[in-house]
Amino acid sequence: MYIVFEGIDGAGKSTQIRLLKEWLEANGFRVETLVEPTDSEVGKLIRKILQRPDATTDRIQKTLGLLFAADRMLIMDKLSDEKKVIISDRSFISSLAYQEPASWIREINKYAKVPDLVLLLDLDVKTSVNRSNQEDEFENEEFLTNVKVNYLEIIKDFNHKIIDANGGINKVSSDIKKAVAPYMGICPDCIR
Ligand code: TYD
Repeated sequence: MYIVFEGIDGAGKSTQIRLLKEWLEANGFRVETLVEPTDSEVGKLIRKILQRPDATTDRIQKTLGLLFAADRMLIMDKLSDEKKVIISDRSFISSLAYQEPASWIREINKYAKVPDLVLLLDLDVKTSVNRSNQEDEFENEEFLTNVKVNYLEIIKDFNHKIIDANGGINKVSSDIKKAVAPYMGICPDCIR
């Protein structure tokens, strides 16, 4: 099972991934977590470019689109482990939401694995901007509003669940467990 967390910056993806991993492990599953961009050479280059003042320009967005696609090619073999639940912080769906145009992003990501389940952590853009460290150029209101609109459209093409990420950590975590439970043979009504 390949589960992907998506959403605009500051939605709490890393905390929720940790909580989901702990819960699945307590239920006897083997779990591996991944993060995109990765810590590969390409991933490191991406993180540098994200801090450039011109990171949201069309030219740099196209450059990033290519680098993100290359970065995820490097982890492709990790996504097909039959014995483990793979939980990933982002996937090529982030590229569809953040970079453009969608037809080109799909083309350069055609070898990327399609997730079995996408959990979209839906957060108010204002909350996202307030929570962010504003280290990256993407963390501004106008840019993230566009990303959020893109997400809500793109997500329809994938098996997904939209999770309201504006609540407290425990409420969000319990909503995520309820969404994942049916795939794991766990009773959703047994979750607090
Ligand atoms: P992330 O590590 O989630 O951000 P942070 O550590 O600041 O919370 O991701 C870095 C940024 O890269 C984030 O703004 C989203 C962006 N991104 C894309 O634009 N396209 C992609 O394909 C991916 C995977 C991430």
